[in-house]
Amino acid sequence: MAEQSGNIESKNFTLETPFAPYSTNSFHVKGAENYDWGMKDRLSRIFSPKSGNTVMLAFDHGYIMGSTTGLERLDIAIPPLIPEVDVLMATRGAIRTCVPPSSNKALALRCSAGSSVLDDDMSHENIAVDIEDAIRLNASCLAIQTFIGSPGQASSIKNLCDTIDAGNRFGIPTLGVVAVGKQMERTTKFFLLATRMLAEFGAHFIKTYYCEDFERVVAACPVPIVIAGGKKLPEKDALEMAYNAIRCGARGVDMGRNIFQSECPLAMTKSISKIVHEQYDAKTAYDYYLETKIKRR
Ligand code: 5RP
Repeated sequence: MAEQSGNIESKNFTLETPFAPYSTNSFHVKGAENYDWGMKDRLSRIFSPKSGNTVMLAFDHGYIMGSTTGLERLDIAIPPLIPEVDVLMATRGAIRTCVPPSSNKALALRCSAGSSVLDDDMSHENIAVDIEDAIRLNASCLAIQTFIGSPGQASSIKNLCDTIDAGNRFGIPTLGVVAVGKQMERTTKFFLLATRMLAEFGAHFIKTYYCEDFERVVAACPVPIVIAGGKKLPEKDALEMAYNAIRCGARGVDMGRNIFQSECPLAMTKSISKIVHEQYDAKTAYDYYLETKIKRR
């Protein structure tokens, strides 16, 4: 027991200032104000405390598509891009074999699986990673795909809820990924429904596609939204989509094919980061992409 006598009496309690966690928006991640410390620490590895936003590199395609254009060799394609992103979204197989542990980046661990491009209906997935293994990998979040409006809706919601419960036990957030089934249209109405459902189930942030009136989707969702990249677009269009999403309130971009299938993946990653973290507009980011691409030749 430390000696108590002679200590200066403590008096600087600053009673006029409210306790920080209860003042408005003292934590930089939407809806996360009342989470525990460990959960907030993991979310801060994902969402930069400086910009509030995140650049996620998705290369989990192989779990459903096998070898994909641009990702034939994960060990060659991914490492050069790692310094430019905040989060790596991948399967445990890809992480353990092709990502150096010294990269020290947040990991969004793909935790659902169960179908492939050979299936007509890809909405039937299972939880494919045990929470213990996610902890062993030091995952910053667990990613589960949900198929609202598809035959596998109920089981994919169960996968999401079971994963959220498992993650909550250890302070690990869950990323709810909105999948669009073949029979669903990419309408604002669909994304308003799907994103809100996932947030109400307890997902800590949501990955979804950009759509018209995206600011409404963002406003109605009580947790952060990051946009998915989707099929490869011309670089100018992909940057414009990222810019529009951020302008409408998205807190980041989780992009795969539009990065690793780009003519210059490194320049594309850097340009996305300029939009997400440095408020570049679409034109400035595209000019930056062209300059960076030339310098890399
Ligand atoms: C689909 C996913 C994918 O696994 C992947 O991450 C998609 O990346 P992109 O569409 O940008 O190539 O999450 O829901």
